[in-house]
Amino acid sequence: MRKAVYSLLLVSFLVFGVIASGCISGGTSTETPATVTVTKSVAPEQNVLEIYHWWTAGGEKQAIEAVFKKFKDKYPNIEIKANPVSGGAGVNMKMVLQSLMLAGKPPDTFQVHAGYEMSPYIKANQLTPIDDIWTDDMKKHYPQVIQQMVMFNGHYYAVPINVHRANVVWYNKHIFEKYGIDPNSIKSFDDLMRVAQELKSKGVTPFALGDRNKWPATHAFEVVMLSVGGVQFYQDFINGKITDPNDPTLKKVLNAYAEYLNYVNSDHAAKTWDEACGLVYKGDAAMTIMGDWANGYFKAKGWKPDVDYGAIVLPSNVYDLVIDTFVLPAKAAHPDAAKKWLSFIGTVEAQNTFNPIKGSIPARDDAPLDPYGPIQKEFIKDLRSSSTKLVPSITHGSAVPPAFLSDLNDIISTFVTNRNVDETAKSIVNAVKQDLLPNKIKEWKLT
Ligand code: GAL
Repeated sequence: MRKAVYSLLLVSFLVFGVIASGCISGGTSTETPATVTVTKSVAPEQNVLEIYHWWTAGGEKQAIEAVFKKFKDKYPNIEIKANPVSGGAGVNMKMVLQSLMLAGKPPDTFQVHAGYEMSPYIKANQLTPIDDIWTDDMKKHYPQVIQQMVMFNGHYYAVPINVHRANVVWYNKHIFEKYGIDPNSIKSFDDLMRVAQELKSKGVTPFALGDRNKWPATHAFEVVMLSVGGVQFYQDFINGKITDPNDPTLKKVLNAYAEYLNYVNSDHAAKTWDEACGLVYKGDAAMTIMGDWANGYFKAKGWKPDVDYGAIVLPSNVYDLVIDTFVLPAKAAHPDAAKKWLSFIGTVEAQNTFNPIKGSIPARDDAPLDPYGPIQKEFIKDLRSSSTKLVPSITHGSAVPPAFLSDLNDIISTFVTNRNVDETAKSIVNAVKQDLLPNKIKEWKLT
């Protein structure tokens, strides 16, 4: 098993001031309008598993349904009541969840990212620790760094089902071939911009972006930060150490991000992440910066990895971790069914059913590789290699307090329109002081 690269230092929850509303990220619209119902009447029958998740797009929908089917085969008497709430990165589901929690009627389990995204629920005593679910076998086969991301106050609170990678540029191979572009020549952000310029000069839209729900713009910013600022800067950023609005690296990152924005589709504000992938699929754009759920999307469209599309990892030695987990709400109506679900998703069987379709890789290090495509096999190798640096994703909830992420989504969304580097650097630093530092409970450390 690879060495843990990051360690978490947990500090007192007494100084932990995240308010529940902070967990809502800034998106206002939905991919497909979601029905937000807060009053629900679930009878306390034993054989029900009520579950919330946001996997409604191509690839992710099929992946979770395949796991439900396996669970059903194993527990035919448990009825799964799934409530998918559309909106990538959980933009809408988080709001629905918050209402359910406030009403004291949570589901039996729900999807949440590992790390900070879980913290408001834990602070409000809305989750039950699940140390009994974490068997020795699981402790042996989940990388330490991932275990630490679901532990608070020394207790396990979630079971990860996968590991996604955020720092990927997906490209249409047919377009690259047509214009003679060698993906192996792209080793840095500057290389990427050179290719973007070349494509633009030939009338091709270099990048598809779909930031209608804001977060895809933050996602691209995060990847630019890692590529241009480097891992040490990224780590300082998430630890709240960037407090000078004139920080030269922060400005360099913002300038680089502004350069990237010169190459995106003009209708980006009207599109969602999967519609942006659709532009690459149709050949209307050459590339998109997105996590490897894009891999699941392309596969669901019938595209073949390394034949129709490819992946460029930037920076190549970094794994920007996006980890989907499920938890046990304290007031779950059917905790027994929920515990069966949590134990199940901690198995190789569940992870090797879900991840080949989802585009992600298994969180466990003992899952056989045969069901995975070539890109996933590479990523599994990378995750297990001790020379890969692991960083937690900002956009996907792990690295920073939810209140700060919400600010950042708004700030980056404004930057996409006004491109004002100085003002944006000031706004970011203000948000660090206002919403990151006061809510900080963990220190991310490169070891
Ligand atoms: C991420 C999540 C992925 C995928 C993506 C788009 O936040 O971790 O599993 O669902 O959003 O919906």
